[in-house]
Amino acid sequence: MAEFTLPANSKIGEGKTYKASGATRIKEFKVYRWNPDDGKNPVMDTYEVDLDKCGPMVLDAIIKIKNEIDASLTFRRSCREGICGSCAMNIDGTNTLACLKPIDEVKGAVKITPLPHMPVVKDLVPDLNQPYAQLRSIEPWLQADSAPPPDAERLQSKEERAEIDGLWECILCFCCSTACPSYWWNGDRYLGPAVLLQAYRWIADSRDEATGKRLDALEDPFKLYRCHTIMNCTQTCPKGLNPAKAIGKIKQLMLERQG
Ligand code: SF4
Ligand code: SF4
Ligand code: FES
Repeated sequence: MAEFTLPANSKIGEGKTYKASGATRIKEFKVYRWNPDDGKNPVMDTYEVDLDKCGPMVLDAIIKIKNEIDASLTFRRSCREGICGSCAMNIDGTNTLACLKPIDEVKGAVKITPLPHMPVVKDLVPDLNQPYAQLRSIEPWLQADSAPPPDAERLQSKEERAEIDGLWECILCFCCSTACPSYWWNGDRYLGPAVLLQAYRWIADSRDEATGKRLDALEDPFKLYRCHTIMNCTQTCPKGLNPAKAIGKIKQLMLERQG
């Protein structure tokens, strides 16, 4: 019989509370903590942060917590400006980038957990080995057998270049894939919206000559067709991209080539 309760070792407990003293504008941050080395269940720790001494974004608060309150808090970040995709996490129930999420958009305590439905390495760090392996599988680079023009780049018209707008901007944060119910349940075989958007980015590129091979590789009941157009991916993308539309375009090309 199917079991719908969480296994005992994944139930989340109440953690420590770190009070801010002498502050007038306090915001609570409730942060998921799990350490693979201590054998304990995950907990939500509560940190009070003085907003008068903190930058405006959720990432500013997390960095302040790590620097000034609890150095053991573990998370990824790099660019702090929505370019690297490292700081993807679930904030206030939505997958997004901590560096682009203003603290004042969250009413009440700011609840922060790792990207959902992925194994956790530690605290807010998800294990992204599976989506990276899937990205490798679609060979995300330009492939062309014909020789390039002598002493020139492979040029595109403005119209051809416009075909990859809305695709090249993807920063591979995986907010979309980890918000997709189909990816939750079939992530080992379904490629998920981030990787499929990348696949379409090369299919749509006029300079790439491997379209047939790329479509052949996606012609599979799981890799592509597990997308049921639920649209969570597009709703959550912090860069405003539309992976569901890219997936729809791949499906359309599949139909067209069947005649
Ligand atoms: S549209 Fe497809 S890829 Fe996007 S969330 Fe839905 S099932 Fe997943
Ligand atoms: S499509 Fe958007 S949410 Fe998905 S990986 Fe790219 S930038 Fe992130
Ligand atoms: S730190 Fe690079 S996207 Fe947030």
